[in-house]
Amino acid sequence: MTLFTLTGKGVTYAFAALESGHLAHIYYGKRADDEDLSYLLRLDENPFTPKVNKRDMGTFMDTTPFEYPVHGTGDYREPAIMLMDNKGMSALDLRFVSYEITKGKPILEQKLEDMTVRLPATFAEENEAETVAVTLEDKRTGLNVILYYTVFADLDVITRSVKLINKGAEAFDVRRVLSACVDLDSDQYDFITLNGSWARERVMERCRLHHGKQSIDSVKGESSHQNNPFAALVSHTADEDMGEAYGFNLVYSGNFFAQAEVTQHKKTRFLMGINPFDFSWKLEPSAEFTAPELVMVYSSEGIGKMSRTFHDLYRQHLIRGEYKDKRRPILINNWEATYFNFDTDKLIGIAKQASELGIEMLVMDDGWFGHRDSDNSSLGDWFVYEKKINGGLKHLVDEVNKLGMKFGIWFEPEMISPDSELYKAHPDWAIQIEGLPMTQSREQYVLDYSRKEVRDCIYGQMRKILDSANIEYIKWDMNRQLTEVGSNALPADRQRELWHRYVLGVYDVMNRLTTDYPHILLENCSGGGARFDAGMLFYSPQIWTSDDTDAIERLKIQHGTSICYPASAMGAHVSDCPNHTVGRSTPFSTRGNVAMVGTFGYELDVTRIPEADRNEIPGQIEMFKKYNPLVRTGDQYRIGNVFEDNMWDAWMFVAKDKSEAVFTFVQVLGRPNYRSRRIKLKGLDPERKYKNHETGEIHTGAALMNCGINVNLSGDFQSKVVYFTAE
Ligand code: GLA
Repeated sequence: MTLFTLTGKGVTYAFAALESGHLAHIYYGKRADDEDLSYLLRLDENPFTPKVNKRDMGTFMDTTPFEYPVHGTGDYREPAIMLMDNKGMSALDLRFVSYEITKGKPILEQKLEDMTVRLPATFAEENEAETVAVTLEDKRTGLNVILYYTVFADLDVITRSVKLINKGAEAFDVRRVLSACVDLDSDQYDFITLNGSWARERVMERCRLHHGKQSIDSVKGESSHQNNPFAALVSHTADEDMGEAYGFNLVYSGNFFAQAEVTQHKKTRFLMGINPFDFSWKLEPSAEFTAPELVMVYSSEGIGKMSRTFHDLYRQHLIRGEYKDKRRPILINNWEATYFNFDTDKLIGIAKQASELGIEMLVMDDGWFGHRDSDNSSLGDWFVYEKKINGGLKHLVDEVNKLGMKFGIWFEPEMISPDSELYKAHPDWAIQIEGLPMTQSREQYVLDYSRKEVRDCIYGQMRKILDSANIEYIKWDMNRQLTEVGSNALPADRQRELWHRYVLGVYDVMNRLTTDYPHILLENCSGGGARFDAGMLFYSPQIWTSDDTDAIERLKIQHGTSICYPASAMGAHVSDCPNHTVGRSTPFSTRGNVAMVGTFGYELDVTRIPEADRNEIPGQIEMFKKYNPLVRTGDQYRIGNVFEDNMWDAWMFVAKDKSEAVFTFVQVLGRPNYRSRRIKLKGLDPERKYKNHETGEIHTGAALMNCGINVNLSGDFQSKVVYFTAE
């Protein structure tokens, strides 16, 4: 038996290659100091070992916890991998061949006919992580499976990925290749997922696991509004501060699948990866396939600690570029201010007023290109609409720069409008199936990003725009999902690869863009937050969280998003009231206090909002600058529970050295008898004394956390921010 015991700071992950060559899972959870946990395998007990009991190999296959389960040889639980070989067979028998340990973490790449695409993934220096690569083989087909496990030294994180190599003589179709399986030894878990819809993305849902299969997925071609590629298994009693939590997040932006299966013996098999639905990938002899990375976070201190580990990992080991550790410019975006109805003068008017108030960047949203006056045309025609941008783009950008502001621009590079020059010239470039009507969504089609000439054409147009003026920010949008998924360029036996090739094509252009323009700040967006995923965070340090900018709706959206993703990545803006999505009016200060735990900016016509609101902007900006370092680098503690009791929410950001903290409280509805609430703080050092900058009082961290502070607020949608410093 070859034992693998991966040990992180507070976590152990153990598995073994058995005598038979099967790769069995042993343990995943709180750190066990023993190197050898093989006693947990119960190999001497019938019928659990093939050596002792060959006549009941089936029981062995169907009950043993496996690292990478196959289909067709006795394991009737969900498999991690399936093929269709040239004889029409799908069963596999994977056995251990060898392993290799390396310092650091290898990058993930996928070779295609005309290029090699780097997949988004977390990264680590040689002293920050160690990787073991375990090779398995199916002798009959020649399929080699390499399982990668990276253990981070300072975080309770293990990342997984899988590479397939066809070492056989015949091609086969890979029908399923998930990124990881975890066979846990219990069924006593709750399943946490982040679900929603347009304008209410990533609302946390928690339910008890039961026999059978519980899954979430996307079949839309992007990670989606509906389910996020995140799932957690937590003990029934786990809350923010206590209990076990296993968090899983796929670093991928396309169709995904996550499933927890409670099996006959009350164990849980968890699987996650590219959605096998409508997926197939032809692997020729000696060709390779790389499955995306799955990040696994373990916490023995509740859901809050799990989130903070994800935040640290993503801030340090996923997000890249110049803005990785920098405060982002405070922007004003003209979408909710003007929609399509703007021109150079209007934008300069907004910029003038905004610059006087301390706003640092103007972002020109949708409507500046082709002949776009509404959402019914011009996607694909990335040249300036001179009628609106009179005087040209350079003139506009120069004028904005003269005001001391940066300039940002909106693109939707994956789309094509039927009413566009691009569509007239290349109708075949849209994703489509001959003989089927093409489904329009927002009056647009999706470009076939599996084709290099398509990507080159769009990227070439983008470059021309970016090189024509001093552009320092891009909002990359994606406003519809895929239908009639067929490519005019792929052969029949590769058509089902299009879902994944599309995502690889998007990654290719994002790779090129971030390499060629390292100074540009990229913000992703997809009809609000339909592509808020770790794949996108590899390219853009921030993502538009939701089209819903209402401060109260945002409590749930930002709470849910923070379960996995850091506040520093959440696009959040102050918008006008009544709110354009829900019609609610909230105080300007509350809108600011909620947007402040994101990237912060404004999305309103600053020349037309009430003067009293406008006058609050300089103060808000000052506050944002003061607290942003804490939000960007500190530890987040969720205090309120917006899901159970929608009357208030609260959170804290605490410096890593616990020397300062900021506390935010938002009252949703005022209620009788709740004028004064006692709220217990979190994350402070119990032994240090802290000054409350609102009251001037000094109390120990223990008092503030164990006894709490009094919060007095009256009225709906009121909020306050309190700053604490250690004495
Ligand atoms: C999407 C985005 C919005 C805005 C519009 C423009 O809906 O989420 O912020 O950019 O597109 O069409």
